[in-house]
Amino acid sequence: MHIPSESRYTDTVGYNFCGKSGLQLPRLSLGLWHNFGDVDNQDEALKMLKYAFDKGITHFDLANNYGTPFGSAERNFGKMLHDNFASYRDEMIISSKAGHIMWPGPYGDGGSRKYLFASLEQSLKRMGLDYVDIFYSHRYDANTPLEETMGALSDMVKQGKALYVGISKYPEDKAREAYRILRENGTPCLIYQGRYSILTREIETEVLPAAAENGIGFIGFSSLAQGMLSDKYLNGIPENSRAALSHGFLRKSQITDELVERLKKLNAIALERGQTLAQMALAWCFHQQQVTSLIIGTSSVLQLQDNIDALKNLHFTNDDLWRIGEI
Ligand SMILES: NC(=O)c1ccc[n+]([C@@H]2O[C@H](COP(=O)([O-])OP(=O)(O)OC[C@H]3O[C@@H](n4cnc5c(N)ncnc54)[C@H](OP(=O)(O)O)[C@@H]3O)[C@@H](O)[C@H]2O)c1
Repeated sequence: MHIPSESRYTDTVGYNFCGKSGLQLPRLSLGLWHNFGDVDNQDEALKMLKYAFDKGITHFDLANNYGTPFGSAERNFGKMLHDNFASYRDEMIISSKAGHIMWPGPYGDGGSRKYLFASLEQSLKRMGLDYVDIFYSHRYDANTPLEETMGALSDMVKQGKALYVGISKYPEDKAREAYRILRENGTPCLIYQGRYSILTREIETEVLPAAAENGIGFIGFSSLAQGMLSDKYLNGIPENSRAALSHGFLRKSQITDELVERLKKLNAIALERGQTLAQMALAWCFHQQQVTSLIIGTSSVLQLQDNIDALKNLHFTNDDLWRIGEI
């Protein structure tokens, strides 16, 4: 049994209310997409989980298909929870999702009620949980009526299998419809999960305003662009980096010369600020007041420490913001 330190809620990551809800989320959350699968180092994974929780990171983000192979991140996380955090369930916010392909045939992908319910049951079993705190529709599915997908989410809440529900990567117009349907069903949407980084700012124009108007929180993912917004790719592709791994979702071809040139310019600004590039990239996301939390992925405790330290300097001058925007 892991005994978390009693100081885990003081002088740590800090919390924001999630939209108009009463739920607070840590400003940094830990994502288990990579680094927690069967192919990954389980000792380091457990160390990261313990370190994160001790630093006040109470939110752990999963999905049915996380880990290599699919489902292994939830299973490994469930085992670590059972063995190390059994008495801390009420101090944790655990999320899962369904929407991308998980198993063969017509019921293992998309947004049908059949898929979402079957997948949630599987996720609960893998993690050894009675309920998840947040369940997401992982993506918009144009082949399923939104009423059906949102109806499934609402019923999960009514059945006590999820405390809150959210949507991820929905286009803005479909997100607005989803917010309305969930509200009418009496199970308001808690949160929108979207990609947000210095390199991917699309959500700023429509998704964020729609969420704000509806009192929905926003949680960003891949704010380090899967590690590209760190100093690791400035001089080539290191062994063991996500881009070098055959099972990672980052391809070597994404590390172009043109990108590296831009990263070098960003790195110079980060150094002026006394931050690593990763720290600046995370801190920058909070210049949008509406960001409730960022889900970070890490492959080591050292990275986790580096990223948590990003919160020490969230201040950007207009000149910093302008220069970063230009790059
Ligand atoms: N809703 C969705 O569709 C969706 C999609 C993607 C992600 N997500 C969520 O968001 C989470 C984070 O996504 P992500 O893994 O793409 O996030 P990310 O934070 O952009 O990238 C994480 C990777 O960056 C590298 N890294 C992290 N900190 C570093 C540091 N301080 N210095 C150098 N390198 C560092 C590590 O890669 P190395 O292995 O190279 O060390 C790490 O695995 C996921 O786990 C998942 O929960 C959701």
